[in-house]
Amino acid sequence: MRTFSASDELRAAVAQARRQSLSVGFVPTMGALHAGHVSLVRRAREECGLVVVSIFVNPMQFAPGEDLARYPRKPEADAEVLASAGADVLYSPDAVRFYPAAFSTSVDVAVVSEGGEGAVRPGHFRGVATVLTKLFLQVAPDAAYFGRKDLQQVAVVRRLIEDLDFPIRLVVGDTVREPDGLALSSRNAFLPADARPRAAALSRALFAARDRARRGESDARALETDTRLALEAAGLGVDYVEAVDPATMERVDAARPGIALAAAVRIAGTRLIDNVVFDSERSRP
Ligand code: PAF
Repeated sequence: MRTFSASDELRAAVAQARRQSLSVGFVPTMGALHAGHVSLVRRAREECGLVVVSIFVNPMQFAPGEDLARYPRKPEADAEVLASAGADVLYSPDAVRFYPAAFSTSVDVAVVSEGGEGAVRPGHFRGVATVLTKLFLQVAPDAAYFGRKDLQQVAVVRRLIEDLDFPIRLVVGDTVREPDGLALSSRNAFLPADARPRAAALSRALFAARDRARRGESDARALETDTRLALEAAGLGVDYVEAVDPATMERVDAARPGIALAAAVRIAGTRLIDNVVFDSERSRP
């Protein structure tokens, strides 16, 4: 695996792969890699000739007072994980060169960015869309890989790709979970041991809502309310529980197959997000 921090070196490696007619798969990350990231890298490995992974803790997507300074950073362990998952190129841009002092451009993806995470973390998706626009231009991949746990991020990326005509295929990987259901996240590392068992209440409550929808409950408000009550009863601080159309992130009234229930909670100073997508009893795996 080759590692670059300069965009011109990265572009040269991608250009060389293009001359060999290799397709380029790109997995953007902020590091502190876990099995969810690894599953995306493995999928890119199966589907593409050159696999590029970026690790960049993007300051622009953290609001003042958020956890930028303490966001987990594990560069050596991450490099080993990526090499064994089959990545060809690790791109770790330097923050000062990526965002020089005069940097003044931002990319706003309206509507899909506004509810859910966007309402609780104003400016977050501007940071995500801006960093991804730069990374997409630098890497110029054929396919880009994202995890479904970040449901709203996926919706933002889909719009960004369509609106700005990026010739990129968006690939969405399933959420990878701990045995007790907790969705893997780099931020799980912040959970103190005594809070960790309670964190599983998030996925448990979402799965319970999905099971109720499978049994015929179609009232999205009732599912939102009862999920919120279950989370509060488990001692979690609830930022939101919303039934949304995952393509537009608009709230919906009816919990039909394809609609998602997304939630964000706070536990022992850590924010966790997760979601389920309703399916029908018949399409159930
Ligand atoms: O999901 C993440 O890790 C980040 O939001 C991303 C997509 C790498 C952009 O910084």
